[in-house]
Amino acid sequence: MEIVIAATPEDAARLVADRFEQAVTAAGEDGITLGLATGSSPVATYRELIRRHREEGLSFAHARAFLLDEYVGLPREHEQSYFRFIRDQFTAHIDIDDATVLSPDGQASDPLAAAQEYDRAIREAGGVDLQILGIGSNGHIGFNEPASSLASRTRVKTLTRRTVEDNARFFETVDEVPVHVITQGLGTIGEARRIVLIATGEGKAEAVAAMVEGPVSAFCPASVLQMHPTVTVVLDEAAASRLRDADYYRYIQEERHRLAR
Ligand code: GLP
Repeated sequence: MEIVIAATPEDAARLVADRFEQAVTAAGEDGITLGLATGSSPVATYRELIRRHREEGLSFAHARAFLLDEYVGLPREHEQSYFRFIRDQFTAHIDIDDATVLSPDGQASDPLAAAQEYDRAIREAGGVDLQILGIGSNGHIGFNEPASSLASRTRVKTLTRRTVEDNARFFETVDEVPVHVITQGLGTIGEARRIVLIATGEGKAEAVAAMVEGPVSAFCPASVLQMHPTVTVVLDEAAASRLRDADYYRYIQEERHRLAR
C-alpha cells in the first residue's frame, strides 16, 4: 500500500484530485471508468475537481462512473439517496454525461436481482479503472460491514447499528436511516485497477490503523485492500495518528518526491 500523509484535510483532497486528474487526462478520448463513493470523505475532493473543471478546463466528457452502493427503499429523488448525493455533490457540476453515472437500483422490487445485475454491468463495461473510497469508522468500505466475505460480490447488506448512527447526521432522525443497502462486494471493489482511499479526522484513526497495519480480516473489511497491488491511502495527520509506522511512511513519501525531482 502507498500511504500518503497530508498536513491537512484540504491537502489530502488536493492529492486525491491530482490522482483523478492524472488518470482522466491520461485516458484522453479513450475514456475512463471511475468508481465513485458517497459519504462526506470524498466531498472536498469532488469540490476540488469541480473547481479544476470550471477554472482549468479539466474535462470528464469521456468518463463514465459506477457508484459503490445505495440505500434500499429510498426514492432516487430523496436528497440522501446516493443517486442524488453524487449528482448534487459532484457529477451535475462537471461535463460527464449524466446517463453514464450508474448506481444500484435501491427501489427494485427484487433488490438481490438488481444487485447481481449491477455487478454484471460493471464487468460488462470492462471494470472500474480508478475507484475512490472512504472508510467507515468500523472499517467498512462501500457498505461491506464487518464479517463481509472478502470475496463478496454486489449484494444486499444489513447495516450495523454503528453505521446507522454514523449516518444519522444526514437524516432528520436516526429512525429514517435505511437499514438495508445494495453494495458492491469486496471482491467487486477489488477488481478496480487502481484504488485511492481517503480518510480524514480522528474518528477514522482506529479503522485506518486496522486497515493498514492489522491482519487481513473480515472483521476490518478495508484490510482486504492489503491484497490489492495498486492502492493509495491518503490521510490527514488526525486519521494517521494511530499508525505505528507513520515515520516510515513519511520517509517513503520523501524518497518518492526526491526520486521524482
Ligand atoms: C458510508 C458509505 C461509505 C463511506 C463511509 C464513510 O456509509 N457507504 O462509502 O466511505 O460510510 O462515510 P463518511 O465519509 O461520511 O465518514
